[in-house]
Amino acid sequence: RARAAIDEHARLVPDFPSPGVEFKDLTPVLADADGLAAVVDALAHACAGAELVAGIDARGFLLGGAVARQLGTGLVAVRKGGKLPPPVIGVDYQLEYGTARLEIPADGIDLAGRRVAVIDDVLATGGTVVAATRLLEQAGARVDTIAVIMELAGFPGRAMISAGAGPGVRVHNLCLG
Ligand code: PRP
Repeated sequence: RARAAIDEHARLVPDFPSPGVEFKDLTPVLADADGLAAVVDALAHACAGAELVAGIDARGFLLGGAVARQLGTGLVAVRKGGKLPPPVIGVDYQLEYGTARLEIPADGIDLAGRRVAVIDDVLATGGTVVAATRLLEQAGARVDTIAVIMELAGFPGRAMISAGAGPGVRVHNLCLG
């Protein structure tokens, strides 16, 4: 059902972000009531057993909250650097172009030993989800699942996760892009 909704509603943008690349914009999928329900159901199914959901800044927030409600868990927003009040813990990571930083609060959230599912919209190089996983694990959590709507073909996302987050982390996508 999620796959059908994505096929029906994703907006195809030619030559973006670079010539020859066809970008799949998932915004209209989430704007459709059935599309949102199908995507959230499928992500929640992939994350069954999680004790906490982590949504990655920014589009992972849209999904993470809904998935957490579906699973009956709490939600941690993994934020881009500089947004949270101190104290924070953070990791710097490499983007396709340049570097970035993800942070979570250092106080107030008990992550020790908790089984966490990481949610985002797209998996490309894997740099973002690996950084989020490292960050959560640094805080004591156990990330066992990474779930995304779309995994981009031609990017080393899975290999990066396996190398950077460990081979035991399950990776789920609802479609390939
Ligand atoms: C996009 C996307 C993922 C990440 C995937 O976010 O939402 O978070 O890139 O890429 P990667 O697998 O190569 O790390 P972006 O950094 O564009 O931020 P945004 O959600 O704030 O737009």
